[in-house]
Amino acid sequence: MKKYLIVLPLAMFFIPVLSAAQVTYQKDIRPIMEARCSMCHGYQSPLIDEFKKDKDKFVKQNKGPRMDSYELLLEFVKGKDAGAMMRRLDDGISKEDKKPGNMYIFLGKDEPERQKNLKTFKDWVGSWNLKRRKDLTAEEVKKITAPR
Ligand code: HEC
Repeated sequence: MKKYLIVLPLAMFFIPVLSAAQVTYQKDIRPIMEARCSMCHGYQSPLIDEFKKDKDKFVKQNKGPRMDSYELLLEFVKGKDAGAMMRRLDDGISKEDKKPGNMYIFLGKDEPERQKNLKTFKDWVGSWNLKRRKDLTAEEVKKITAPR
C-alpha cells in the first residue's frame, strides 16, 4: 500500500508532461492549418473527388481540396492520397534536386517560421516519406502516426 502512495503522485506528475510533448492534430496541426492553409483548403473548397473532376477550374480560383477536419486531412497523410502532404510540404533540402514541395512556401511568412512548422508536421507524421502512394509499402504506411 505504502508503495502506491508514493508512485501515484509521481505518475500524476509525469503523465501530463509526456502527453504535452506529443504532437497532435488538435493541439498543433489544426492551428497551423487554420492560419496558413484554410483560405485555400477550408470549408469553401471542394472535397477531393469533386476537386479532381474539375481541377483546372478550382486551381484558377485558388482552391485546393478541402482539408479542414482530421478525417479529411488524414487522406493526404496516410489514406487514399498517402504521402501527398509530405511531398507538398517538404523543404527539398534532403532531395537531390533541392526543390521544395509547392506548398512549403505557405508554411510560414519567413524561413524560420516555415522550418518551425515543417518540424511540427514531421513530428506529427512520425515517418516523413516522399514516396507516392503506390510506392509506399504497408510497413511504411503503418509507421505514419499522425495522432488526433
Ligand atoms: C493560396 C492557396 C493555397 C494555400 C494558402 C495552400 N494551398 Fe495547398 N493547394 C492549393 C491548390 C490550388 C492546390 C491544387 C493544385 C496543386 O496540386 O498544386 C493545392 C494542393 C495541395 C495538396 C495536394 C493535394 C492533392 O490533391 O494531393 C496538399 C497536400 C496541400 N495543398 C497542402 C497544403 C497545406 C498543408 C497548406 C498550408 C501550409 C497549403 N496547402 C496552403 C492552394 C493552396
